[in-house]
Amino acid sequence: MTYKKRTHTCGELRTSHIGQTVTLTGWVDRRRDLGGVIFVDLRDRYGKTQVVFGPQHNQEVYQLAKDLRSEYVLSVTGKVERRPDGTSNAELPTGEIDILSTELTILNKADTPPFPIEERVEASEDLRLKYRYLDLRREPMQRALITRHKMYQIARRYFDEHKFIEIETPILMKSTPEGARDYLVPSRVHPGKFYALPQSPQTYKQILMVAGFDRYFQIVKCFRDEDLRADRQPEFTQIDVEMSFADEIDVQTITEGVMTEFFSELKGITIQTPFLRMTYKDAMESYGTDKPDLRFNLKFVDFSDLVAGSGFKVFSESVAKRGVVAGFTVPGGASYTRNQMDNLVDFTKSIGAGGLAYIKLTEKGAESAIEKFLGKELLTKIAERAGAKTGDLVLIVSDNWQKAYTILGTLRLEMAKRLNLIDESKNSLLWVVDFPMFDYSEEEKRYAAMHHPFTSPNPEDEQMLETDPSKARARAYDLVLNGNEIAGGSIRIHTPELQTKVFGLLGIGPEEAKSKFGFMLDAFHYGAPPHGGIAFGFDRIAMLLTGSKSIRDVIAFPKTSSGMSLMDDCPSEVDKKQLDELHIRLK
Ligand code: AMO
Repeated sequence: MTYKKRTHTCGELRTSHIGQTVTLTGWVDRRRDLGGVIFVDLRDRYGKTQVVFGPQHNQEVYQLAKDLRSEYVLSVTGKVERRPDGTSNAELPTGEIDILSTELTILNKADTPPFPIEERVEASEDLRLKYRYLDLRREPMQRALITRHKMYQIARRYFDEHKFIEIETPILMKSTPEGARDYLVPSRVHPGKFYALPQSPQTYKQILMVAGFDRYFQIVKCFRDEDLRADRQPEFTQIDVEMSFADEIDVQTITEGVMTEFFSELKGITIQTPFLRMTYKDAMESYGTDKPDLRFNLKFVDFSDLVAGSGFKVFSESVAKRGVVAGFTVPGGASYTRNQMDNLVDFTKSIGAGGLAYIKLTEKGAESAIEKFLGKELLTKIAERAGAKTGDLVLIVSDNWQKAYTILGTLRLEMAKRLNLIDESKNSLLWVVDFPMFDYSEEEKRYAAMHHPFTSPNPEDEQMLETDPSKARARAYDLVLNGNEIAGGSIRIHTPELQTKVFGLLGIGPEEAKSKFGFMLDAFHYGAPPHGGIAFGFDRIAMLLTGSKSIRDVIAFPKTSSGMSLMDDCPSEVDKKQLDELHIRLK
């Protein structure tokens, strides 16, 4: 098919083009037949332009235009004219002009789309994912992917300017225990053996430091077979970074630099550096999470010492068992009705609490159902410590340290939502530091790495690896934006002795360490420099910078929450022949 190539895009023409004959190509966004004149909004990724077809301009073209439907692909030629008085559209950059069409080629027809290509869609997400190419024609999706594109460019430029070298690492690698479940790829030539897809390039980037590259970065896909959520995909993108001869501040400064560029170039916002730093312990005890959202307050207060000797057994026994009694003040919450309070108690129980105690501060002072156990004086003391004023409500939870604070953390977020306390115009960026090295799993009766097995312990706490590993702090740090973990990293172990010891604490004995990580321990014998790094959750940052609700909205072809790709219907079955070649028999 021969057709006229475009002279301009659909977002380009202005009053300065009036009088010119132009050709545009694009999709029919909207067609209105007013009887005697047909208007078509032609769309491409640059914008929309109104095209007018009338019998007086060209009878043949006008007849052809009657057949046009949404999403037909066209080449249109005609003269740019000023729209008649009163018909310009201030909302469109091209809104002051239109094109009087004298030539039209229908480059392709289109079936009626299953949902309209509009800014806002009513269609279910599943339908959008099945017809992703149509969904991606929508302006918000195009905007999001263009922002994402800009992020790649900013990151590449920034890291290059700071002497980082981009190096690709393998997608087919050795399966190593790193935290999540691996995706496995069977080997055809080595029956019974498997590659794994990288959960991250962690081991490779550390080995690149041993190789002397000094500063590495990569924009890289990572794969994790884990339960999915709005901020989690089975394959996602990281900006992966590693630096030699660097400490926490070096890595964090580089990180703050690229975040500053993202904010200034993509949002026009100047963010303050250095970012706030908060220890893991403070984050948990003040906000009940290792990724606190500081766009609103609701900070926790510990009441344990006040209630330790009280007559309320739930509290006193909890404290006696080294648990905590803590809570926070809900401003204006005393006006909550009985129903609202019951609802809140149910919510708190639904997230695992034994119950929720509360004190209302009214004109009559502190009032509570637990007054009969605690007495008015103690209630008042609690309310005072919580900083509650008349009209406020104090919510209180008691349990072991981890559980009490985690429950309060979820309750805090819930209250912020219910009370509309989150100021969306704010950006809260902070480092959470001093994570514990290990999480102890009561079920499995063993330690698991809080970050990953290559994280260095804080030198001050190294002795504790012998005596009380659960108390040892790691040289790990997470970057948090508005309650989302957007990056995480650490200073690494770089001696074979310490690495072997930490593997041992994680239940990885010498044999397993040799078979799974022998290459790394070997490398550490050949002059490994001290090093550390970080990885950014690229999709999460794109989600937050574009104001999207889910990372699926900033990924061209994401998976559903059950790991399906609805457009190409994968995962899918494969031929028996393929399985035979891979030496695989299905159960
Ligand atoms: P980590 O596992 O913390 O660290 O990952 C780094 C960042 O990647 C993002 N992220 C995800 N995003 C989308 N979907 C997922 N399933 C997902 N999992 C993680 C998060 C997270 O902060 N190798 C280490 C980094 C290092 O130590 O340098 C690592 O991968 O935003």
